[in-house]
Amino acid sequence: MTYEELYEKARAASELAYAPYSGFKVGAALLTKTGEVFTGVNVENASYGGTICAERTAAVKAVSEGFREFAALAVASSGGEAWPCGICRQFLFEFGDDLTVITGKDSGHLEVCGITDLLPNGFRL
Ligand code: THU
Repeated sequence: MTYEELYEKARAASELAYAPYSGFKVGAALLTKTGEVFTGVNVENASYGGTICAERTAAVKAVSEGFREFAALAVASSGGEAWPCGICRQFLFEFGDDLTVITGKDSGHLEVCGITDLLPNGFRL
């Protein structure tokens, strides 16, 4: 799977986002090291703190289906490029320091970096 294909899965997923409060729709597509793809969207709540980001939705779906080894994550939003927020960076770092993160305003303008570029010295117990 190419980065462009993974990004397109994130973009398609973003259409399913539940974002009535912010209007900011986000989709994520998480590629496992064995080739499965789990998508996720942001799911907002009237109690704003209950909102979950697209990236964590995808990771929670994967982990709860027995997948914990991830190769790459693509993120797409209605507002153009969207890097994972701080909570999501730490959440993803939990499962490995070799995750590639992809975003961009469209699949022709991707930006790619590693999770440790986004979160140096991530916390571990
Ligand atoms: N959001 C994500 O889904 N991922 C991010 O990395 C940043 C923010 C969502 C949360 C909320 O529903 C909306 O975008 C605005 O913050």
